[in-house]
Amino acid sequence: MKAYFGTITELISQLNSSLESRNTCMILDENTSIYLDAFQNNVPIKFNYLKVNSGEKHKNLKTVEKVWDFLNENLIHKNDVVIIVGGGMVGDLASFATSTYKRGVNFILFPTTLLSMVDSSIGGKTGINYHFLKNNIGTFSIPEAVFYSSEFLKSLPKNELFSGLAEIYKHCIIKDRKTWNYLKNAIDQLDYDYLIKTSYLLKSEIVKKDPFEKNTRKKLNFGHTIAHAIESSLLERNKPILHGFAVAKGIIIESYIAHRQNLLSQKEFEEIEHQINFRFGNYFNFEIDVNELIKFVKFDKKNTSKTINFSLPTAIGNVTVNHEIELNKVKSFLVEFFQND
Ligand SMILES: NC(=O)c1ccc[n+]([C@@H]2O[C@H](COP(=O)([O-])OP(=O)(O)OC[C@H]3O[C@@H](n4cnc5c(N)ncnc54)[C@H](O)[C@@H]3O)[C@@H](O)[C@H]2O)c1
Repeated sequence: MKAYFGTITELISQLNSSLESRNTCMILDENTSIYLDAFQNNVPIKFNYLKVNSGEKHKNLKTVEKVWDFLNENLIHKNDVVIIVGGGMVGDLASFATSTYKRGVNFILFPTTLLSMVDSSIGGKTGINYHFLKNNIGTFSIPEAVFYSSEFLKSLPKNELFSGLAEIYKHCIIKDRKTWNYLKNAIDQLDYDYLIKTSYLLKSEIVKKDPFEKNTRKKLNFGHTIAHAIESSLLERNKPILHGFAVAKGIIIESYIAHRQNLLSQKEFEEIEHQINFRFGNYFNFEIDVNELIKFVKFDKKNTSKTINFSLPTAIGNVTVNHEIELNKVKSFLVEFFQND
């Protein structure tokens, strides 16, 4: 997979050389269609586009069928290329549709949210939700190229921007103390070009070593065992939150568990807790019930009925995998954590 970084104009010019004379079409969503003109005015070949509805509830088979119909109508063949412009939702969905259409045609991603730039566009996971199960159906399929521009972030709502930032903090704790220190000291506007590039390099290196999540790739699950349980319990109460805010809280709670397991020092835990609360505290306006968390943690496919499998930090900049902790112990850590929170 090739990765390009630059302004939107620079990227479109690079896209033009990548397209050569291939037939192409574009998939975007109702919000990312604001960028349609930039493509239509600067890509020399004429192409059709499909605008899908935005939002997680449209990440389903019905939307995939619309994409398949659109690809058929546009006579897209194996050697052609589909351009996908959007965040993780349209990225996951359209790359799933493209990777299953005619047993897979080439696709190119233009990620437009911070989360999709630093996370979902890297590693080849595609997918849709099925019968309310998140990302239940999917494939591994690598895009031909990904085009990254922080310019897309100018139109992104602030809460969506912060949701993506949580994954960058996660990457720092996994393996990047230098960027952690940068974030700690950054008071004014953050340098998103720097943050996107470092996160891209970090995640790419991990998924290259372990594409199918047998071992090292599990490091990327840090914070997510608790985050998924928080998201599911709030969804059940009909009070959904953005993924990144559940991840930010999950990072603190799993760091606490690491500390209580004698993996992480008190000082490092407190630094993580302080920095995450400083950056995301305003978004922690949701209530968590420990019993509900435990119920959903048990559903996680990585766990057995008696133990929970965590990826946990031993320091800021080092996460280790496969920590099996008994469910009762996890519950007592959670009770303790929320008593002091
Ligand atoms: N494949 C993976 O490895 C992976 C990893 C993490 C998350 N995901 C998936 O990513 C999805 C979440 O992605 P997301 O956080 O990017 O959300 P999203 O794609 O739903 O986008 C959030 C909102 O922002 C809008 N938007 C997107 N770009 C914009 C822009 N530049 N300006 C203005 N509005 C814009 C969208 O239309 C949407 O309303 C979930 O479905 C999740 O399962 C996948």
